[in-house]
Parts: sequence; structure tokens; C-alpha cells
Amino acid sequence: MPSPEPRPFAGFPHVLKSQQFEPQDLALLFERADTIRRHPTMHHGTMTGVRAAVLFAEPSSRTFTSFVEAAERLGATVRANQHMALFSSEAKGEVVEDTIRMFKSYGYDYFMLRRSKEGEVDSAALAAGDRHPVINCGDGSGQHPTQALLDLYTIWRHFRDLDRPLTVMLLGDLKNGRTVHSLVYLLAKYPNVRFVFVGPERCTMKADLLEHLTEHGRQFHVVPETHILERPLFAWVSDVDVLYVTRPQLERETETDRTGLVQAYQEFVVTSRVAEAMPSDSIIMHPLPRTFELPETVDTNRRAKYFEQMENGLWIRMALLHWIHDLRTTS
Ligand code: NCD
Repeated sequence: MPSPEPRPFAGFPHVLKSQQFEPQDLALLFERADTIRRHPTMHHGTMTGVRAAVLFAEPSSRTFTSFVEAAERLGATVRANQHMALFSSEAKGEVVEDTIRMFKSYGYDYFMLRRSKEGEVDSAALAAGDRHPVINCGDGSGQHPTQALLDLYTIWRHFRDLDRPLTVMLLGDLKNGRTVHSLVYLLAKYPNVRFVFVGPERCTMKADLLEHLTEHGRQFHVVPETHILERPLFAWVSDVDVLYVTRPQLERETETDRTGLVQAYQEFVVTSRVAEAMPSDSIIMHPLPRTFELPETVDTNRRAKYFEQMENGLWIRMALLHWIHDLRTTS
């Protein structure tokens, strides 16, 4: 059966929030990523002549490198700046809209942006207009939609069915972790996903996200910190299919709050005992970078998926750029 024609996703050509993608879009994207994984060079050169600016104003290893790599492998000319906050005119107070205006006037077509404040990528998209795709690569404590795409791709590759009942436990700094925000919005598109939120009281999941789940009739359970103190983490994971671990986002806390957060986090460390208490076919994910919350001793556990997840970032970003490019050149 020939695969259906790709259609524009909501908000096309910008990628600002994970809610923009519907299950039918994702099925096509994941198939495309799988094809690229099997034939890594098949789309090489398809974006020749396109100029892409990868402009990051917060630290990054994987997102930055995989976007640069994805765009270059597809043939785009890439201007990559990982130091926007330090060495661009931003350090002199320039707003992101003016930066976009400059790059546009120099002939740039695509913008992959990481910003430290929520909402700045949306402003950049307005300045870019609807012929110049802007991709949110993380905006403060807001969202990180392409991370959610690669996270869900990893889940899909393991379970092959997102309509079956799945229990997903999101663990850690749920207040500041933008990857969990994007992932929850995306997983909420699938009615049989059940959410369990676990983490220190001081960084529980945002109320608007919980409201979103309630409005959409999704099942979720918030485990208070006190319950973990009474009954340790390993006793909560026996029915968890996906354990999504996140680090304490210390850079988003004041100096005085950091020590308290690290202390509170000690109860939420994913030890080998926690991993072993999970079902045999379950998976452990982490957007990386990890710190003490996920010790290296877990790396050899068969449930550990985070390095595969990291690799998936390249395939999914190539598939996403290729999809956008396809639509841009045919519309
Ligand atoms: C995440 C991010 O930047 O939000 N990293 C990533 O992109 N893989 C997670 C984090 O920094 O904790």
C-alpha cells in the first residue's frame, strides 16, 4: 500500500509546541525516521541551497549537534552558534526578533532556536513569518517539542503500538523540565496512556498541564513526596511501562534553593534496585544530560533506553526537516 501523502501539521511551518502534532502525523514521521535510519544517505543533498541557522542561547550537546548534523546531512548550509547569549548582539540587549530579521535579510530560510525564556521562540516565529520555519529547541521551562518527538519515537519503536494501555511514570523536576511538558502534551493524544507523576514537592507538575489532562479525560496520578518517603521508589514501579527520568534543573533555581533540591532528590534516584523492580519489557528513558539521579550502574540494565533515545534524535530531526522541506517546496 503506498504511504499517504504528508500533510502540513498544525502551525506549519513552525514547530513551537508538541500539541501541534496529531497521531496520524506522528505515524508518518516515525515511518520516515525508520526509513532514514535504515538508509541513512537516501535524502542526502535534498536540502541543497537551503540556509539553516542553529542559534542557541542556552547550553546544549545533543539537540545542538543533532540539528546541525541533520541539516548538514540533508545538504543545507548551516550557520551554527551555540553562544548567542554571550557573543552575539544579544549580550548588548538585542531582542530575538531583530536577530531573526538580520538572518532573514542575509538569506537564511530555517531557524532552530534555543532560548532561556518561555515565549521567545513564539516571538521569533512571528518575526520570521510563515515562509521561514522556526523550530523550538527548548525555551526556558516551557517546551522542547522535538525532544518529545524523539522520545515518543523511542517509545513507539519499543512497543510498536501507542493505542495499547501504557503506564508512563515521569520522574524528577516536573516543574522546570521542558521535556516532560512536551512529552505529556504529546502522549495525551493517546487515550490509553496513564500518567504517574513522581518528584520532590518543590518541583511538581504545572497545574495547567494537569488541567489539560483532566479536560481531555486522561488518567493520571500524582504521587506526593511524603508517600515516597514512606514507601521507597522501587515499590512504585512494578506496573510502569516507561520510566522517564529527569535531572534537577539547578540552573533554574536560586543559589539557596539548589542545595535543598539536591537533598530532596535523593529519594528519587533510579538505582539498579528500582530498575530491576520494573516489568521485564519496560524501558527507562532520560533526555540527558543525566546527573546523580540516574547512576551509570543502570546503563547495563536491559531496560535502559536512553542512549538509543539519544541516537533517535538524529533520525527524527532528519525526518522532521525533510518533511518540512517537502511541504515547503510543494506548497
Ligand atoms: C534537555 C533540555 O535541554 O531540556 N536536554 C536535551 O535537550 N536533551 C534536558 C535537560 O537539560 O535536562
